[in-house]
Amino acid sequence: MTTTDDAATALFTELTGCAPAGVWSAPGRVNLIGEHTDYNDGFVLPFAIPHRTVAAVGPRDDRRIRVASTFADEPVEVAIDELAELFPTPTGKAPAVPEWAAYPLGVAWALRQAEGASDAVITGAGLDIAIASDVPVGAGLSSSAAIEGATASALNELWEAGLDRIALARVGRRAENEAVGAPTGIMDQMASMLGEPDAAIFLDCRSLDANLVPVGIAEAGLAILVMDTRVKHAHSTGGYGERRAACERGAAIMGVPSLRDVSVDDLPRAEELMDDVTFRRVRHVVTENQRVLDTVRVLREEGARAIGDLLVASHASMRDDFEISVPELDTAVEAALAAGAIGARMTGGGFGGAAIALIEQDAVQHVTDAVNAAFAASSFTAPVIFTVTPSAGAHRDA
Ligand code: GLA
Repeated sequence: MTTTDDAATALFTELTGCAPAGVWSAPGRVNLIGEHTDYNDGFVLPFAIPHRTVAAVGPRDDRRIRVASTFADEPVEVAIDELAELFPTPTGKAPAVPEWAAYPLGVAWALRQAEGASDAVITGAGLDIAIASDVPVGAGLSSSAAIEGATASALNELWEAGLDRIALARVGRRAENEAVGAPTGIMDQMASMLGEPDAAIFLDCRSLDANLVPVGIAEAGLAILVMDTRVKHAHSTGGYGERRAACERGAAIMGVPSLRDVSVDDLPRAEELMDDVTFRRVRHVVTENQRVLDTVRVLREEGARAIGDLLVASHASMRDDFEISVPELDTAVEAALAAGAIGARMTGGGFGGAAIALIEQDAVQHVTDAVNAAFAASSFTAPVIFTVTPSAGAHRDA
């Protein structure tokens, strides 16, 4: 039991006066490379991080679901039969429940209709769900996928839904898209469900084929630093949806179902066919897909030390073509590289959140100091900087 397990269990006991039937957890993620490629049916290479969200859950006999969390003042309670009235959340509207509660309740709603779920889910008992987390919120580390993964794992077992990990990732994504109203892809949920120690997940977002790629960071004497800029982002509003729309427009102009079907060789033709902004959005996705394939090959053939240039090129593409970086992310990346990082890039959806740097293990303090100094020099809020290692995906803790 971790301290987050203890916090969720204590909250459950405070809420109900008894012990939970079980405790489940799921991690946040860092994406090594492959940004905004998931909803374009492309490739991504994320890994699960040690930070986890925990759901302590137990049944109740009145067919109601009550969710409580250490980061909210009040629990939220609804009848199971009310879920279908609450969701889906109309596009552009806030969820009918507080946003944090839309994640676990959205999972319950989506699980009840999941393809392949046993009939038992329909008569599944009411539940008390107590949530605690040490995944930083709004940092681009998928705190939302971690809530979805922990809740989906718990409900899968307690409602005897019989779904596999990929189906549970789909349930989480549906909750995120249709209950919370964030038009995201499936990368984060897949990373949270499928993570393994020391491995990244090479995911084909079209087929959902997932292959583990050993990253060998520690063996190579390296470390991955997360630099949380503390610029909060939200993907249910604004830029994320606009980027997604630009990608769809680009695919339509190219006459293909998605940008996965456009190759680097097609880019000159794309440039002739579309306006400059749409073209640059397309070029990011197309070249980023190629960089994921290249990174997987280089990791397998040469090891982690050789992927630095690909990470740097990915950041430049997000900054210049996709235009989802912010000054704090650029500063973190530039300061880390100037301090000797092998590679660095922003990670996640952008518009804030975190960047990662691949560095020598013995340079952690030096790079941290350099990034802190660069933030201070620009009068930015101090970042939060820590190392992560690829870690296990969702599981039952107790
Ligand atoms: C967010 C979304 C993911 C993905 C990334 C960008 O994390 O949740 O689906 O699109 O942004 O790569």
